[in-house]
Amino acid sequence: MKTLITGGTGLVGRYLKEHLPAEETFILSRQDVDIANFYDVRRLFNRIQPDIVFHLAAFTDVDRCECEPVNAFRTNVTGTFNVAFFSEEFSARIIYLSTDFVFDGKKNSPYNELDITCPLSVYGKTKLEGERIIRDNCGNYSIVRTSRIFGKYGHNFASQLPRKLLQGHKVKITTDLINSPTYARDLAVALVQIATSKFCGLIHFCNDGYCSWYDFGLYICKQLGLDTSLLIPVSINDFADSIAKRPSFSTLDTSLFGRKFYKPRPWHQALEEFLNQEIS
Ligand SMILES: NC(=O)c1ccc[n+]([C@@H]2O[C@H](COP(=O)([O-])OP(=O)(O)OC[C@H]3O[C@@H](n4cnc5c(N)ncnc54)[C@H](OP(=O)(O)O)[C@@H]3O)[C@@H](O)[C@H]2O)c1
Repeated sequence: MKTLITGGTGLVGRYLKEHLPAEETFILSRQDVDIANFYDVRRLFNRIQPDIVFHLAAFTDVDRCECEPVNAFRTNVTGTFNVAFFSEEFSARIIYLSTDFVFDGKKNSPYNELDITCPLSVYGKTKLEGERIIRDNCGNYSIVRTSRIFGKYGHNFASQLPRKLLQGHKVKITTDLINSPTYARDLAVALVQIATSKFCGLIHFCNDGYCSWYDFGLYICKQLGLDTSLLIPVSINDFADSIAKRPSFSTLDTSLFGRKFYKPRPWHQALEEFLNQEIS
C-alpha cells in the first residue's frame, strides 16, 4: 500500500509519518514538488503510483494569505485541484485536511458537518474551495476538518507558545477567539484510522472541549509552573498583528467521528501529555 503525503514536512505531516510504514510512505516537501504545477504533480504520480494520498500541503499562514490572495489561491485551490485530479486518475484514496475557518463563528454552539459554511478570510475561502474540488472530482475521499493544531514542529502560534513562555517572553493572547485545540499526534492517529476505513465524505476531528487562546495559555503556564503574568490578555480587535478576520467561536462537533471511530480525548489531557513528553 503506497502512501503519499503532500506537505509532509509540515507540522501534521511530521507526526503522520511516524504512524505509517517508512518503506511504503513518500513524504513530499515543497522542494520535491510544487503542487500548483500540474506537470510536477503528474510526474510525481507517475513515479509513485500511490494508493493513498494525504493532501496536507497548504498556504497556512492566515494573515499572509490575506495579503497574498493570489499565492493562497495558487497553493490551496490550484494545488488541491492538481492533487485531486491525479488521485482520481490513479484511483488513489485521498484524505484532505480542512479547517474550522470555513465557518463565520456566529452559531455559538459547536459546528457539525451539516452546518452552513461562510468563511471570513482568504485562507478559509481557499480551503473551502479545496473541499469543493475534492468532493466534485474524487470518488474515494475523506475531508477532515480540524482546528488549532499544536505539536513540537510547527511555526504556528499554538506550537510555539510553550517555548516562548518557557523562555520568559511576555505574550499577548486573545480572550475572545474560541475553538478546540488539537494535538497533532492525536490527529495523525485519527487520519490513519480514517484513511484505512471505508468512510467517504466530510468529518470533523479535534480534541474534545474548547477554550479561548488565553485559557490555553493559562493551562500551559499551570502545567509548566510558570507565572501567568507572562500572558497579556487582549481582544482580537486590539491585536495589531492580526489582519485576517477569524471566527469568534468555531468549535467543531465531533459526534460523527465518535460514532464512526471513537470519542477524541479532552484537549487538556492531550496538551498535558504533549507538555510532559515533548516539551522540557
Ligand atoms: N495548523 C493548524 O492549526 C491547522 C488547522 C486546521 C487545518 N489545518 C490544515 O492542516 C494541513 C496541515 O497543516 P500544518 O499545520 O501541518 O501546515 P504547515 O506546518 O504550515 O505545513 C504546510 C506544508 O505544505 C507545504 N507547502 C506549502 N506550499 C506548497 C506548495 N506550493 N507545494 C508543495 N508543498 C507546499 C509546506 O512546505 P514548505 O515547508 O517547504 O513550505 C509544508 O510542508 C493544512 O492543509 C492546513 O490547512 C491546519
